[in-house]
Amino acid sequence: MLVDARLRPIKDLRISVTDRCNFRCTYCMPLDEYVWIDKKEILTFEEIARLAALFVGLGVEKIRLTGGEPLVRQNLDRLVARLSAIDGLNDLCLTTNGALLAERIEALKAAGLKRVNISVDTLDADKFKQITKRGDLGKVLEGAFAAKKHGLDPIKLNAVIERGVNDDDIIPLVEFSRQNGFAIRFIEYMDVGNANDWTTKKLVSKKEILETISARFALKERGRNHDTAPSVDYDFVDGIGDLGIIASVTEPFCSSCTRARLTADGKVVTCLFSQIGHDVKALLRGGASDEAIVEFLSAMWRGRTDRYSEERWQALRTANYDPKSRKKIEMISLGG
Ligand code: GTP
Ligand code: 5AD
Ligand code: SF4
Ligand code: SF4
Repeated sequence: MLVDARLRPIKDLRISVTDRCNFRCTYCMPLDEYVWIDKKEILTFEEIARLAALFVGLGVEKIRLTGGEPLVRQNLDRLVARLSAIDGLNDLCLTTNGALLAERIEALKAAGLKRVNISVDTLDADKFKQITKRGDLGKVLEGAFAAKKHGLDPIKLNAVIERGVNDDDIIPLVEFSRQNGFAIRFIEYMDVGNANDWTTKKLVSKKEILETISARFALKERGRNHDTAPSVDYDFVDGIGDLGIIASVTEPFCSSCTRARLTADGKVVTCLFSQIGHDVKALLRGGASDEAIVEFLSAMWRGRTDRYSEERWQALRTANYDPKSRKKIEMISLGG
């Protein structure tokens, strides 16, 4: 089994299919002057599918499509169909802002997509617009209900909680999700990328989120899916609903991190907070054999030592952390 320098196997691949997005969420993409990836540098579906199959050969069991916003990429269902056909892949999912989901879901479902995670940070349409700059909450919810109608399961709503912005949305989001058969996940605000002006003041911890919800609903912890998922999951004792909390700041989960990331321009990235990627596109386009690519990916994974969130937590506890101390790859080109 292929393991990294900290004995973590490679199990998941998050594939960013584009760095373009139709939203500009304040916590992810506040910049106007971002330099977009040139079209000719973007991997084709053939290239992505070839790499994905090689990753599956190395141990990857789950693939998640991300962006930017993945549905901005034309004909994404054709990629879903190619990936669905890979033997040994157990889980194929999509993380989306939901804006284009209603119009694309039929084709995506037909191509083999089983489940979807949708960002919904608030149920207040004005606040939704403030957070996403360009988002229309009505369209996003329409997308979520369309996914439900087409039988995708589970459908998870992701809410990044920022103090003073949407901490008062926690209970309404829980109630809405329980009423409508969605799973709800709250995400601690992270210092991803370089531009979101993250400070600990904006962070609402997992502990606080749990206290808020537990004051209204009795919960029972279920743990992490496969012991490796970012989210710690909970059941509601009354049997209605599904809750998860992703606490990468206050309860980092690097020690069980089995995730690799592929950028739209063909860089393999071993951590969400990496400064650089490993250029696999040069091999792909240089005519390298499958064996040569596999050797490249294996060597990269064997050398992996990343544990950024654990290091950050240590530094935060000694008041010694400067989020700007290193230039990270932007969130918009990693898809979370
Ligand atoms: P499931 O497969 O449904 O459990 O999805 P997921 O939680 O793995 O993926 P999703 O795209 O919904 O991401 C939810 C949040 O978790 C986002 O804020 C991601 O940035 C964050 N996240 C996912 N993987 C990692 C990771 O390896 N490290 C850190 N720090 N955050 C992660
Ligand atoms: N902190 C935590 N999560 C974030 N996401 C985007 N930016 C941040 C951030 N700064 C989330 C989105 C989406 C997922 C891909 O990543 O809300 O659900
Ligand atoms: Fe928002 Fe996702 Fe777009 Fe980032 S990629 S701006 S989180 S919708
Ligand atoms: Fe994995 Fe890096 Fe996230 Fe830690 S911070 S869980 S190593 S992606």
